[in-house]
Amino acid sequence: MLISYKTILDNAFKDGYAVGAFNCLSLENVIGVIKAAEKLNSPVILQLAEVQFPYSPMELMAPIFLEAAKRSKVPVAVHLDHGQSFETCARAISLGFNSVMFDGASLPYEDNIAITSQVVKMAKAADVDVEAELGKVGDTTEVLTNKPNEMNDDIFTNVEQSADFIEKTGIDALAIAIGNLHGNYIATPKLNIKRLAEIREKNNLPLVLHGGSGTSEEDFKSCVHNGIAKINVATAMQMAVAKKIKDYVNNNEKNNYIDMKWLMIEASEETAEYHIRLFESQGKA
Ligand code: 13P
Repeated sequence: MLISYKTILDNAFKDGYAVGAFNCLSLENVIGVIKAAEKLNSPVILQLAEVQFPYSPMELMAPIFLEAAKRSKVPVAVHLDHGQSFETCARAISLGFNSVMFDGASLPYEDNIAITSQVVKMAKAADVDVEAELGKVGDTTEVLTNKPNEMNDDIFTNVEQSADFIEKTGIDALAIAIGNLHGNYIATPKLNIKRLAEIREKNNLPLVLHGGSGTSEEDFKSCVHNGIAKINVATAMQMAVAKKIKDYVNNNEKNNYIDMKWLMIEASEETAEYHIRLFESQGKA
């Protein structure tokens, strides 16, 4: 069933678990993620980021996400990940996404507040929820070392600013930067859980962890128990699908496309299942 992002996150935040938000680039990803969520009786979020539009156009993916959500036995929200402008968020809302992220993290602070507030105003009029980001998550191609203690503190979410930002924008969830990065880590990161706990202490709002792939199980658990109510996973599923296909092609002569489709579904399901169990949302549907 299609359920609001806010309802799904508020429940997770209240009960101390996190919901997996999986970037789905294909029908196979969607089918696999929903299968895992239904098997584990867990809420889940299907999402697509603006940088992914060139090969997974939002206009084509939206009806698939929405239909999959409506047919599902478990609560599913359909979310725009990393919307880069007010206009993209408006387009997602008109296509039926029931939550959007406006990512103004690289903008000057006041501009991030101004545009996020405009997105919130537009979204709330359409009964759509909003996530925004404060601090710089970045990606692994930009950062040569992934050790948070060697990172410049400025890129982490500022505790005082987080309260000001939440109050001024009226968002439903805040994505934070605590040493997490998008993409493949060079080495397993050590997240700044102390900073997370301080942000959690200061604010009574669900928090979001981006860059979930490659995080240690220990850090995932600390996040889940310190106010992170949504964890984004993209790279891990892409890698799992690619590996299954590579193994199939290397070990099979027939190269049957239908077999490959099943393998893509299977890899997507396995990735989602692994993360849903770690995030403790199993049985919470
Ligand atoms: P990963 O690709 O590192 O899992 O990050 C996913 C993400 O945060 C999407 O917004």
